[in-house]
Amino acid sequence: MSRIFLYADSADREAVGGLLGDRLIHGVTTNPTILRREGLGAEAAADLYAEWTGRGAAEVFFQASGADVTSMEASGLRIAQLGSNAVVKVPATAIGFPVAARLAAADVPVLVTAVYSSAQAVTAAAIGARYIAPYLGRLDDAGVDGLALVREMVTLLSGTETHPLVASVRSPERIVELVASGVRHVTAAPTVLRAALLHDASDAAAAVFERDATV
Ligand code: E4P
Repeated sequence: MSRIFLYADSADREAVGGLLGDRLIHGVTTNPTILRREGLGAEAAADLYAEWTGRGAAEVFFQASGADVTSMEASGLRIAQLGSNAVVKVPATAIGFPVAARLAAADVPVLVTAVYSSAQAVTAAAIGARYIAPYLGRLDDAGVDGLALVREMVTLLSGTETHPLVASVRSPERIVELVASGVRHVTAAPTVLRAALLHDASDAAAAVFERDATV
């Protein structure tokens, strides 16, 4: 038996706060682009971490940055110091993988992000990453069968302690396809997560229930 974990891929404080308040998500994933979209930078991480964990986020992801291994590792350690709910994202690059290996060796939870190949997924598992983030939508944009590749990663990582946490997920239907493929961790924009809750027929049925409950 395994749970399904949904995350908000956003730093929109109102949207993320609403999802946390409604207890619809397990955590929050960010990256420098997501922060910049809200006019925020790395310096906002401490406040966001406190706000979101205070509202029940079990995991909060911030991405390390740096032009070399030493600076990216230092960035990752600053993120790790936010608290036990913090997970450090590092890109699947020549700099990111050594940083991920060093952080994982220091028992810092790491997600290797922007994963586009099974070889990267296997390497992330070998170095002890807790998660990998394949970019489903961007794989499709590149003409790759993203779902097929994610399925292969699920198989390769089965039995390891590394889990696909799939990103670039742009519709409720893709969430369903991922879970049907064995994925148990999905991050998506708040609008996608909210859309996954709704169906016109459900609203119509509920309206009848309310009408009959109040007669
Ligand atoms: C990862 O966190 C990315 O920022 C995000 O999932 C990208 O989604 P997009 O490909 O729809 O922009």
